[in-house]
Amino acid sequence: MSAQMSRIALARRPSGSPVPEDFKFVTDDIPTPAEGEVVIEVTHLSLDPYMRGRMDDVKSYAPSVDIDGTMTGQGVGRVLASKASGFAPGDMVTGMTGWASHACLPGQELRKLDPAMPPSTALGVLGMPGLTGWVGLHKFGRPKAGETLVVGAATGPVGSMVGQLAKSLGLRTVAIAGGAEKCKLATETFGFDAAIDHRAHDDARSLRAALAEAAPDGVDIYWENVGGKVLEAVLPLMNTHGRIPVCGMIAWYGGANIEDTNQLPGLWRSVLVKRLHVSGFIIFDHWDEYPAFLKDVAPKVAAGDIAYIEDVADGLENMPDAFIAMLKGGNVGKQIVKL
Ligand SMILES: NC(=O)c1ccc[n+]([C@@H]2O[C@H](COP(=O)([O-])OP(=O)(O)OC[C@H]3O[C@@H](n4cnc5c(N)ncnc54)[C@H](OP(=O)(O)O)[C@@H]3O)[C@@H](O)[C@H]2O)c1
Repeated sequence: MSAQMSRIALARRPSGSPVPEDFKFVTDDIPTPAEGEVVIEVTHLSLDPYMRGRMDDVKSYAPSVDIDGTMTGQGVGRVLASKASGFAPGDMVTGMTGWASHACLPGQELRKLDPAMPPSTALGVLGMPGLTGWVGLHKFGRPKAGETLVVGAATGPVGSMVGQLAKSLGLRTVAIAGGAEKCKLATETFGFDAAIDHRAHDDARSLRAALAEAAPDGVDIYWENVGGKVLEAVLPLMNTHGRIPVCGMIAWYGGANIEDTNQLPGLWRSVLVKRLHVSGFIIFDHWDEYPAFLKDVAPKVAAGDIAYIEDVADGLENMPDAFIAMLKGGNVGKQIVKL
């Protein structure tokens, strides 16, 4: 009998927030590599909010996961067998392994890891989320010393990168995070000047009053990670010529009715009246910036000048639960699953 591997497949499309029954655990044979391919034993997997979108059968910037298909995702792991030049058994690599214990991928889709850094950092602070914060802030936030930046999901890998970079450039930084513990992390670990607990405010009006106090000179950059109540609270506080890098809208990923236009006229009016620059962006369009990002950020992470937190769940079988919890704010820092 061949050696076996495990993977998590999409069992059915979720209705609203995902539940454990939307996933299924599957056992297969470990593939044999063809010419140019590498077989990897996965050690760490990334959980990211974008995966929720891949579970729906809707047109987007990337294809959906098929029913019975392996859930999409990035992993890191050790090369077990290689028929690709440049890769040898034992090398640590990263690539789109999917939610699986093993993966067989073309060598050109893999990147070798820097042995000086913990492998899991390739999924968070030095991976896609870190790059997202770095590219988006510089290209679309266009920060200037003395300005004020607000970011939601502020202790996550994107928000914490954005906050720390903005602070180092001389901006006032205001975090929005869920719960007292995350607010404390935002100010003490990630250096935000102020942190507001969105869960302590039932509506946008109340959250806006707290934000207005924390941002007395108004908001020049609103880094959009969440949408929902936070977006509604911030928009009227934007300064003229403010910038809004639109990175994500996790408050609406669980299937809220995004076609509800009740708030639209007021929100849209702010864009006109304040002459706001609203820039949607998807990080896949900016991977050519990855070497420049690593050159700038990796030494700062190694020196401890950029902090990061990882929330590590244990075992492939726990991925669905960790994913479901992360979408509701159950993670503290970058959500990783260790196999
Ligand atoms: N455009 C791109 O290419 C790109 C790339 C990477 C990530 N993103 C987006 O960036 C955002 C952050 O990603 P991440 O990886 O750093 O995630 P993350 O912060 O690790 O996890 C998601 C966080 O979202 C917050 N959240 C969930 N529901 C919320 C709600 N209703 N209201 C306010 N906050 C809520 C929770 O934090 P609290 O408990 O603090 O509320 C939760 O911990 C996501 O929207 C993601 O889709 C976009």
